[in-house]
Amino acid sequence: MNASVAGQVRLYDRQPALADFRQTVLDGLSRRPRAIPPKFFYDAEGSRLFDAICECPEYYPTRTEKALLARHAEAIAERVGPACLLIEPGSGSSEKVRLLLDTLRPAAYLPMDISRHYLFETARNLGREYPWLAIHATCIDFTRPISLPFAPPNVRRVAFFPGSSIGNFDPDDARTFLRHLVKTVGPGGGLLIGVDCKKDRRRLETAYNDAAGITARFNLHLLERINAELDGDFDLDGFRHHAFYNAKAGRIEMHLVSRKAQTVHIGETRFDFAAEESIHTENSYKYHVAEFAALAQSAGFILQQVWQDDEGLFSLQYYEVES
Ligand code: TRP
Repeated sequence: MNASVAGQVRLYDRQPALADFRQTVLDGLSRRPRAIPPKFFYDAEGSRLFDAICECPEYYPTRTEKALLARHAEAIAERVGPACLLIEPGSGSSEKVRLLLDTLRPAAYLPMDISRHYLFETARNLGREYPWLAIHATCIDFTRPISLPFAPPNVRRVAFFPGSSIGNFDPDDARTFLRHLVKTVGPGGGLLIGVDCKKDRRRLETAYNDAAGITARFNLHLLERINAELDGDFDLDGFRHHAFYNAKAGRIEMHLVSRKAQTVHIGETRFDFAAEESIHTENSYKYHVAEFAALAQSAGFILQQVWQDDEGLFSLQYYEVES
């Protein structure tokens, strides 16, 4: 593993190989229904577009969660305790953790993200702003079991998993991921997690279909990446963004729908799309608080406290592992 050092910031590169991306895309497009996992949205441009989604007026989760973090930082710090090892899978812009750092005073912060350039850039900037903070940033696919690049003994470990990223796993995979986290934080460890709540269809569908079309661009960017990195020839105008609430499954589904019958190549491999045939690119499961608590409990986390906004749009939940 490479580790490079700049002041209190250390960078570790375990980025999945390009062959991984290629194989997953070829397998995913050969399957029916066709599906590609959402982690491949996130290259530098994808991370930037995602940040833009978070700024959209329709996308309530980011705003609501940030307000909860700011408002309850003291109570969170009291629960978590000082000088923990703070681990954040899928840290992206690390904007939310900033709301906690001064109050929480962790011993070290371990952001992890698949978007390497963006992660390292963010970590270096954070290091300049928080010179007292030890930062260990790892480029990693966190959907696989995590091994920590920095693991001092006898330091309490707490995972921070905001943004309802947990909703991007289906419930069985979410349980598996949470079980991995239980192992990562160990006995007595903690988990502060943001979970988007079930609510009326209109509010949900509006959030994933912003008027400025940024979510649509983000979705289509996946095809752009396939073209650039895997020698694909997707016609971006030949596909449209489609996001809707599947109430029975309790999830937003996001798809790229072929506008017509067409043939696409990726390297030497040919794919024939029928008109209106879709590629399923993302799910975002929504949970009632009790529903999610039962899932987390089945993975080994014990609920300690829940914070919610007045409208009950979003929840911030704190768990611990038995010590
Ligand atoms: N965790 C976010 C969510 O489920 C991810 C997300 C929001 C997202 N909007 C998106 C992912 C649009 C892909 C496309 O809400």
